Amino acid sequence: MYYQQRGKIPSKRHTQFRQPDGSLYKEELVTSKGFSGIYSILYHTHPPTRVKEVMSPVQYGTKPLKDYTLRQTHLNTSNIKITGEDFLSARKVLLINNDCSISICSPSQRKMDYFYKNAEGDEVIFIHDGSGVLISPFGNLEVRQGDYVVIPRTVIYKFEFNDGPLRLLIIESSSPVETVKRYRNELGQLLEHAPYCERDIRSPQELVTDTSRGEFLIKIKKQGFLHPYLYDFSPLDLVGWDGFLWPYAFSIHDFEPITGRIHQPPPVHQTFQGHNYVICSFVPRLFDYHPLAIPAPYNHSNIDSDEVLYYAEGNFMSRKGIERGSFTLHPGGLPHGPHPGTVEKSIGAKATEELAVMIDTFHPLHLTEDALEFLDKNYPMSWTEGGDSFNEVNAP
Ligand SMILES: [Fe+2]
Repeated sequence: MYYQQRGKIPSKRHTQFRQPDGSLYKEELVTSKGFSGIYSILYHTHPPTRVKEVMSPVQYGTKPLKDYTLRQTHLNTSNIKITGEDFLSARKVLLINNDCSISICSPSQRKMDYFYKNAEGDEVIFIHDGSGVLISPFGNLEVRQGDYVVIPRTVIYKFEFNDGPLRLLIIESSSPVETVKRYRNELGQLLEHAPYCERDIRSPQELVTDTSRGEFLIKIKKQGFLHPYLYDFSPLDLVGWDGFLWPYAFSIHDFEPITGRIHQPPPVHQTFQGHNYVICSFVPRLFDYHPLAIPAPYNHSNIDSDEVLYYAEGNFMSRKGIERGSFTLHPGGLPHGPHPGTVEKSIGAKATEELAVMIDTFHPLHLTEDALEFLDKNYPMSWTEGGDSFNEVNAP
């Protein structure tokens, strides 16, 4: 991330900075990893510590499935229209481990009448369908289809989505979500060979200072609960901020693909990193151009990771039976590869229009109970010609 500043700030940090009435603005330091990670300094009109009411927490979470046996998995969410009314109640977690969770979210309501704060995880919200505004104390940020919206933990926010289809893929991360380390120089700037650069990372532009009084509800997510906190001032009471920690948008369409004469391995698609997992973008690109190249991927035995692909657009040349909104989970311990017939078919192809988000985790992912309704039971046999029966023994 890089340095940004909005609104008014004093020329020296931790010094007197006064409001028109002579009182001090209230300084707040927000840090990502103790005092050694990136941080921003916020200047509030009101003390951010002043709470009007702490209300009863509401359980909010998901149950990982026990006894889900080792198998290749396809979750087809292509037919869902609405997953719930509200931005939080509509989140359906499908896959989870201690490092991250993967959800879909298609709320019927387009505007939130409260603010939300995830106190335990960064969020990456991939806007598969939809557009709108992310409203946060850092300012307003226009978001659109194809954006990854990256929201560091503790950032208070709400969305106002525009009318029309709304389909979100949400990755919640127990660790900070970062740009890829090998693409940064020793001072953090993105290098020339990185598939994106700082110009592609869009920060909040319009700082809105709301000093009005009233009742402002913030739902804080922590440890399996939503904790409703009531304040008598708006969380948008900032007159200024500066630093490296802020929510941002990066469009998958601004990811510049890395291609080669022969098949390039998945790390060329890497877009973000978290602790024990990565997020990658498969984008429209030219195929491999060696005269004898095979554009379809080779069979691959992933012994140390679970690999999830979310299929966003286009035709997936190595897969059959996959639709827009499908997830595949290829767990560590089993080889996976192109479906029958797709290798020969790929030879000579010049380009692909596919668009997909991949999440690879180094620890096993667990399906949730909510995932079962999307399960394609025949997928484990889909590499076998004529194979259509997967013999399940006491397993979901
Ligand atoms: Fe793989």
